[in-house]
Amino acid sequence: MSAFERHAGVLHVESVSLSDLANEFGTPCWVYSRQAIETALDEFQQELLGHDALVCYAVKANSNLAVLDVLARRGAGFDIVSEGELRRVLAAGADPRRIVFSGVGKSVSAMELALRTGILCFNVESAAELERLNAVAAQQGTTAPVSLRVNPDVDARTHPYISTGLKENKFGVAYDEARTLYRRAAELSHLRLCGIDCHIGSQLLDAAPFSEALDKLLHLIDQLAEDGIALEHIDLGGGLGIRYRDEEAPTIKAYLHPLLDKLKDRRLRILLEPGRRLVGNAGLLLTRVDYLKPGEIKNFAIVDAAMNDLARPALYGSWHTIVPVVERQGTADTWEIVGPICESGDFLGRDRPLVLATGDLLAILSAGAYGMAMSSNYNTRPRAAEVMVDGRQSYLVRRRESFDELFNLERRLP
Ligand code: LLP
Repeated sequence: MSAFERHAGVLHVESVSLSDLANEFGTPCWVYSRQAIETALDEFQQELLGHDALVCYAVKANSNLAVLDVLARRGAGFDIVSEGELRRVLAAGADPRRIVFSGVGKSVSAMELALRTGILCFNVESAAELERLNAVAAQQGTTAPVSLRVNPDVDARTHPYISTGLKENKFGVAYDEARTLYRRAAELSHLRLCGIDCHIGSQLLDAAPFSEALDKLLHLIDQLAEDGIALEHIDLGGGLGIRYRDEEAPTIKAYLHPLLDKLKDRRLRILLEPGRRLVGNAGLLLTRVDYLKPGEIKNFAIVDAAMNDLARPALYGSWHTIVPVVERQGTADTWEIVGPICESGDFLGRDRPLVLATGDLLAILSAGAYGMAMSSNYNTRPRAAEVMVDGRQSYLVRRRESFDELFNLERRLP
């Protein structure tokens, strides 16, 4: 059963009506389904049953403590990219030995904390980072577990802004240089080589590029074995896409099966870093129509959510399905669903056929990933509340920011 269904015409998240949630918590408001998050994780874990594998949720997709907690309780590990994310996952009670640390610009202080915490692995992205990590580990009198993020130069065939596995991207070490770099790392006495990783892009709708990347990594692993470098794990990153509109995203089985097949005779632990696939379709943004502004060329519905809340449409031209919480009878008009921000790019949906009246509630779907996590205070707008639904219960897992909080870090000149 889907966690998002209509009962008596009203859209619900699990057993809670979105009209009730809007009354209780106000709008705009992010709403997540615990069941949907757990189901998505379970699907990965089911397919991985019998394999030595760990699903490390990419925290950047949605870093709310409640989301992290739900996933940690079900055995997920975490993929972090900053000291802030490290502190978050620790606050959520994550097991440090299930944390991998990705990112092209790890600061010294983030490395220090991660070393002290005892994380599973640093996914190193450059020669300079290897040297820095070795020095930081030496200073602490310890050894850092290391994987090199290799850029396999495969085309993920996704949006250029979220494609990461091509030579021209800033991520990872070049495939042709990886072997040399592993040899260099093996000489550094405060590093322990334990894995290899890649992440080729996000919102992939085709499983083939993952296999291509894996082939290249396996080839490298064989070369490294010749050099006497034996690795314990392979981390294939995240990137599996979801349906926003009518996309046919691969099933988790279709995604994993070819990969597991290629890995079956290898004694390698498998790590994955899915973000969007775990939480994207488990959340929505609830908003209210504040004004209707029909016009000669376009009709605008001005809602109380905006690009500062959900940046994806403005940033990538992304489509999010928008549905009314309570369906109205009547003939649909075509609406531009826009926020109150002073930018023409402030739209959440374009050309949407809807029957609307002022005060109506709308649900902007598939907003669980890269929604709140990418929100800002632009136009001095408080960030929206976040609510987690669990069956009949709803929990306020982040209260709406107050206006005071928006500028109380600032000072006027003396
Ligand atoms: N691992 C690494 C190293 C990553 O950089 C990312 C995402 C992931 C895992 C998780 O990827 P996912 O499974 O969520 O596709 N803001 C963009 C997406 C940026 C993704 C960045 N890296 C969006 O809203 O579409």
